[in-house]
Amino acid sequence: MTRHNGSVAVSCRAVVRTYRLDSSRVAALRGVSLDLAAGTITALVGPSGSGKSTLLRLLACVDRPDEGSIEIGGTDVVGLSRAGRVRLRRTRVGFMFQSPADNLLGYLTVREHLQLGARLRGLSTRDRQVPELLDRMGLADRAEHRPNQLSGGEQQRVAIAFAALGPPTLLVADEPTGQLDHTTVDSVLDAFAVLAQTGTAVVAATHDPAVARRADRVVLMRDGQVADQ
Ligand SMILES: Nc1ncnc2c1ncn2[C@@H]1O[C@H](COP(=O)(O)OP(=O)(O)OP(=O)(O)O)[C@@H](O)[C@H]1O
Ligand SMILES: [Mg+2]
Repeated sequence: MTRHNGSVAVSCRAVVRTYRLDSSRVAALRGVSLDLAAGTITALVGPSGSGKSTLLRLLACVDRPDEGSIEIGGTDVVGLSRAGRVRLRRTRVGFMFQSPADNLLGYLTVREHLQLGARLRGLSTRDRQVPELLDRMGLADRAEHRPNQLSGGEQQRVAIAFAALGPPTLLVADEPTGQLDHTTVDSVLDAFAVLAQTGTAVVAATHDPAVARRADRVVLMRDGQVADQ
């Protein structure tokens, strides 16, 4: 695998996001500028409420900033139509949540998840990436199992394998190890490293020091701003 470190995969400039509820306003992001390099893992850390999940939702194109610009793989996502954003998300971005159950469909086997993911990315379900990812994510002997037959760590690795098809320009993970014990955290971090080797920029919001230790870079958020990187 080639590494593509160095080139900018994702770029945010002066991003502002304010939540408005009736008369109250919460300034969740107050001018965030950040670049994510291809082929690297970034840990986003900071106190609860500092804006990590808000930023990740913007990067994943499931929400839009009020101000500022976000480019993913050179495409300005803020200017895209809704359909354009959906297409970009489907082809270039992977997203995974904290709870393994939220990332997977209970009635699909591991292999069927990857076949579905391949279809969503516009690949053939017979694409070699499906067996290759099963292998590289250590899931080959679990391929015919359903989520309730897997451990939490295995389920998160299925979610990463699903997100890794393509491969995408960006993988966004919100507290990916929040519900895992220490021994399984490592296997999830190994899976991130596999994905980064294909050139994907991985960004994970985390309170877990183990994730921050394995990241190429740690970005600290505070009060809706990048405090240190
Ligand atoms: N949908 C929403 N409506 C209104 N306010 C929100 C919404 N989502 C988040 N907020 C507020 O925006 C701020 C940033 O929240 P965010 O969820 O991004 O923080 P976080 O850093 O991910 O925190 P945690 O570490 O607890 O997950 C907080 O003050 C939060 O209360
Ligand atoms: Mg959060």
